[in-house]
Amino acid sequence: MANHQHTNASIDARQPAFPDGLPLMRPRVPTAEELAPYLEEMQASGYMSNFGPIGRRYEETLAEMLQVKHCLAIANLSTGLMYLPQVIGLDGGEVILPSYTFVATAHSLKLGGLSPVFADIDPETFCLDPASVEAVIGPDTVAICGVHLYGTPCDVVALEEIAQKRGLALFFDSAHGIGSTVQGQPVGGFGLAEGFSTSVTKIYTTMGEGGFVATNDDTIAERLHMSRNWGRSKGDDSSFPSIVSKLPEVSAAAGLIELPRVPGYVAIRQRLIQRAETLLSDIDGISFPKIRDGDTSGHKDFAIMVAGEAFGMSRDDLAGALAAEGVETRSYFAPAIHQMEAYRDINHRVPLVVTEKASTQALCLPLFNQMTEDDVAILCETIAKIQLSTNSS
Ligand SMILES: Cc1ncc(COP(=O)(O)O)c(C=O)c1O
Repeated sequence: MANHQHTNASIDARQPAFPDGLPLMRPRVPTAEELAPYLEEMQASGYMSNFGPIGRRYEETLAEMLQVKHCLAIANLSTGLMYLPQVIGLDGGEVILPSYTFVATAHSLKLGGLSPVFADIDPETFCLDPASVEAVIGPDTVAICGVHLYGTPCDVVALEEIAQKRGLALFFDSAHGIGSTVQGQPVGGFGLAEGFSTSVTKIYTTMGEGGFVATNDDTIAERLHMSRNWGRSKGDDSSFPSIVSKLPEVSAAAGLIELPRVPGYVAIRQRLIQRAETLLSDIDGISFPKIRDGDTSGHKDFAIMVAGEAFGMSRDDLAGALAAEGVETRSYFAPAIHQMEAYRDINHRVPLVVTEKASTQALCLPLFNQMTEDDVAILCETIAKIQLSTNSS
């Protein structure tokens, strides 16, 4: 590797490639005109939250879109994942999940009463490796939680087979899964339940925070509803302890405004990523996560893997050089969860080799619904120039 010292200066000393900056994402805020009828509806109904009529329409629209029986809107996915062990009927035990995901996956399941056990990821998709899952199953294992990372569906079919064969509960952290499909079926209806996030970094957002859980199981849906409502179903009695998680009506309105646009957003993101992958394909040391044949991604993120030796510069130095050009990036996901203070004392049953490599190589580049092909062309050209400058210095 060239002995590159990153200087935080742009290559062209006169001005950075993106003088006004290229953000990692640019969430779309609904316009006053779009929101006006919903605000009037809220004034008429008197509902601001509490499973009001807008929230119920949002849930019905989601369920139709994902072809599932129930979608339950919540204040954030972190609470939804925390509820899942209890609503599924798990009373403690171990859950197998990837360490290569956002820390909320582990935190929520831990707070939901399960002990996280990490399996390694597949070197092509960067999602759970089913063989590694099988290798870490132990006598206390009760569940598997797959994660559709960056929008790439994890190997749902293989995980379903393992769960069935070993008598384990299977559910998914589908925070990134909106707009993704597995063998023609929208992500949402797999396993016992799938939890989605609509926080600000997602393909669409419900006013910056929000989420929902999708399930085809009536009992799970009923218990999820009680969980998001302090363990209450009707009246003031409570059947079990639970923390509240409701999506306000105005957030559900933002969801209803955005949902018809989601297929268009996915198409734009797919086109931009395809263009970027073509433009970056000749650059040594850059590769891309793969999507299994028959699956599609909603492309929540545009991740590249930077192999420092071959590229001539580490992922972190490339991130610094891009920042000097006005480009915002994020190292999703570094450190991996098992390297974090909160989980460092867990004994790993398998070496998390692919996870650790990915967490030093992954770099998420800007991707948002209003991004243009010109932005992509300048971004890729900038990466090429950075590589050229480092290898010739
Ligand atoms: C993989 C994953 N799981 C869970 C969450 C938590 O979602 P929320 O912010 O809605 O609680 C996130 C948030 O980005 C995430 O990326």
